[in-house]
Amino acid sequence: MALPDQFLDEVRARTPLAALVGRRVRLTKSGRNWKGCCPFHNEKTPSFYVYEDGYHCFGCGAHGNAIGFVMQTQGSGFIEAVTALAGEAGLEMPRLGPDQMAAQARSDGVQEVLGRAEAEFRRLLGAPAGRRALDYLTGRGLTGQTIERFGLGWSGEGRGSLVSVLRAAGADDALLAETGLVQPDGRELFFNRVMFPIRDRGGRIISFGGRILGDGVPKYVNGPETALFSKRRSLYGLDLARAAVRGGAELVVAEGYMDVIALHQAGFAGAVAPLGTALTEEQMAELWRLSPVPVLCFDGDAAGARAALRAVNLALPHLTPEQSLRLASLPNGQDPDSLVRAQGPAGFAAVLAAARPVSDVLFDLLRQGQPLAGPEQRAAFRERLAEAAGRIGHKGLAAEYRRSLLERFFTETRTARPTRMVPGPRGAQTGGTRDGGARGPVRFGARPVPDEAAGRAECARILSAIALSHPALLHQLEDGWVRIALDAGLAQVRDATLAWFNDAQELDSAGLITHLTKLGLEEDVARVLSRSPHPLPACVAPDAQPVEVLAAWHHLFQMLHRDRLEADIAAARRDVAAGADGLAQERLVRLREAAAAIWREPGEEIES
Ligand code: UTP
Ligand code: MN
Repeated sequence: MALPDQFLDEVRARTPLAALVGRRVRLTKSGRNWKGCCPFHNEKTPSFYVYEDGYHCFGCGAHGNAIGFVMQTQGSGFIEAVTALAGEAGLEMPRLGPDQMAAQARSDGVQEVLGRAEAEFRRLLGAPAGRRALDYLTGRGLTGQTIERFGLGWSGEGRGSLVSVLRAAGADDALLAETGLVQPDGRELFFNRVMFPIRDRGGRIISFGGRILGDGVPKYVNGPETALFSKRRSLYGLDLARAAVRGGAELVVAEGYMDVIALHQAGFAGAVAPLGTALTEEQMAELWRLSPVPVLCFDGDAAGARAALRAVNLALPHLTPEQSLRLASLPNGQDPDSLVRAQGPAGFAAVLAAARPVSDVLFDLLRQGQPLAGPEQRAAFRERLAEAAGRIGHKGLAAEYRRSLLERFFTETRTARPTRMVPGPRGAQTGGTRDGGARGPVRFGARPVPDEAAGRAECARILSAIALSHPALLHQLEDGWVRIALDAGLAQVRDATLAWFNDAQELDSAGLITHLTKLGLEEDVARVLSRSPHPLPACVAPDAQPVEVLAAWHHLFQMLHRDRLEADIAAARRDVAAGADGLAQERLVRLREAAAAIWREPGEEIES
């Protein structure tokens, strides 16, 4: 029996996972999540993590949701597990009527045909006829593994062959039409295109997108709306991103197919994209089911700012203290795919690190680069701010937004002058470089950085800024910090900091900076703490929580050291085995999280 997705979602939503798991495992709070000793293998230090809607063991890889947990711990079958959980949640198991049975059988049939088409496209990509397409994909930097992972294919050059393959497999005309692969005139929709299978969140194929090789219009063709495929509800890459985000990866929304694929390949496995339209409310709801604060990427130009404002407007009514957004801005003219190709993972890591919370960006977005010269403009702007805050459904949060937007309004209108000061080299120190100016698009992130070396240097600079801002955490940071390649000036700052750390009575950032200044390192310190070329991540703020700081640190660090990660894990494992202290264990857990976020294969999730 196939149970409707909605019902399964409802069962999972009504099952508090930590409580369910807590019956078997002693859990302690770990940030927003819970951790404990894994019930599926023998261990003494906890590497079993429970998230809101799934669990994952970094020790043995056990992985699943509430239904999977019951199946795995009680040895029950799928239906049995769902029935038990539905009972506890007070839900009645759906009884499928004849119509629903027929509809279900129908959609199973459509899915089967789509799967058959996918296999054919993949076959063609590997065949001599697909040579040009394969060259195109590898020419864009995709590895064989990536092509395999995303199931990319080739449609074949002309029309006619797919229909005959599918007919031979037993599909009749009506079924073919329902797949969306065949147009009303009976001819194939896709020909001469690289094929991108589109899957639902459970990994089931629902449609395809196709890209022309090289230039030509339309660049992409997407399958039409069908009973299985709704563009406004689907997100490309979501099936893979779900597993990765649960393993600790950041949920990132990019613009297109190739961005998602390039980001996954570069280690950002939490990347998804809408399907050729602006982000919809349905897609946002889907994102929030997976992460409380997804990051949306936008172009650094005026169009990007407009798109960002549109997304924020859509999100405002749904914001709560637990559900928000961050916005990242790409260097002008780059998309995530081209950025990663030009600068490697470190370049995009820097963009992500500079992503700003929606509360912080909203003011600039609403201002839209307008001058606030006269009373009329100021009054109109103030109304826009109040109106935006008023659209937040959560009352307490709306009040906080109103207050902070108005505070900023008063600060800026008090200091605003028609001619603006050019930010000096020590912008971060003076705090005076906020982009509230009456010009150009709103920036909320990246400045262009020229190449991969620059991306890595920027990553190293940001890591140094985190260390200078949180000297109390140096005992956890120093190990990594000494291994980062730094230019001569920054290396001096680091060495002086670590020397200070050995003798300092009090580990505060201001004291450290005074000390470094006395040593004549003022200019290098200013460079470390500057907002350029990228603004610094929020975790450099003095009141940032240590978990946030460490998470940001490790994330950036891993981007610099993907190649060394495996060796590091082996070393940490040896330390732990040799009976090292809690710090080594903590490091091992973090390294494993990092590795999981980068390399974990698509989750073998247990679903209907
Ligand atoms: P872009 O034009 O930004 O293309 O479209 P891209 O993703 O950078 O693609 P490459 O790198 O040139 O291959 C972004 C997204 O908009 C949709 C697709 O989903 C695409 O990924 N799109 C674009 C269409 O649906 N049709 C088009 O003709 C173009
Ligand atoms: Mn692109």
